[in-house]
Amino acid sequence: MLWCGVVSLFPEMFAALTDCGMSRKAIKQKLLQIEVANPRDYASDVHKTVDDRPYGGGPGMVMKVAPLRAAIGELRKRAPQKPLVIALSPQGKRITQRDICEVVAQQAAVIFVAGRYEGIDERLYELEIDQEWSIGDYVLSGGELAAMVAIDALTRMVPGVLGHEESAQQDSFMCGGLDHPHYTRPEVIDGLRVPEVLLGGNHAEIEKWRTQQRLARTKQRRPDLLKEKVE
Ligand code: ADE
Repeated sequence: MLWCGVVSLFPEMFAALTDCGMSRKAIKQKLLQIEVANPRDYASDVHKTVDDRPYGGGPGMVMKVAPLRAAIGELRKRAPQKPLVIALSPQGKRITQRDICEVVAQQAAVIFVAGRYEGIDERLYELEIDQEWSIGDYVLSGGELAAMVAIDALTRMVPGVLGHEESAQQDSFMCGGLDHPHYTRPEVIDGLRVPEVLLGGNHAEIEKWRTQQRLARTKQRRPDLLKEKVE
């Protein structure tokens, strides 16, 4: 069971996880729980202010500590055990499948803090945040999509979520390289045939072919992954 708390100004975005596909099914099976807290509900003034102008000037707004802290505090109370608190931002550690697997193995409760605007008051990191994650070297308009990416990747590694337990094992990156190609019926499409070896039913030959394909694709498309494996 993985419990995910999320701090976000846009709770409705997380319906993409709760209402669709693998994560929806995992929630039904009680293998995943998602609880969202909106910092606006914890703002103390009549205008429900969650952001303010940056000290030192400059463009944009900065998210205030107090409403975020109160929302995190509420989720800490609801968490079934001591949660790992992760903020999403382009300044964070760029995560890989290894980070995802480590968290699933070690943590049953995670709180994701999705920032908006120019960022979050730096003092929140010192006060409340254990780790800062980035999902890649590009800038999103908020941490929500990054949190959803992380929750999706975590969920499919929770034991029992995927139909075939081995199917996560065989995925790209699990074994340090890319996946082999996949085919289904029909056998011929516009003259393109399914590779002969896959039609023969010789499982040793099929495995050999797939391993060769994984290695060749990784060499060609992501040689950096092969280097990582040796190091
Ligand atoms: N928020 C904005 N951009 C992001 C990124 N690349 N990763 C994580 N959080 C973000």
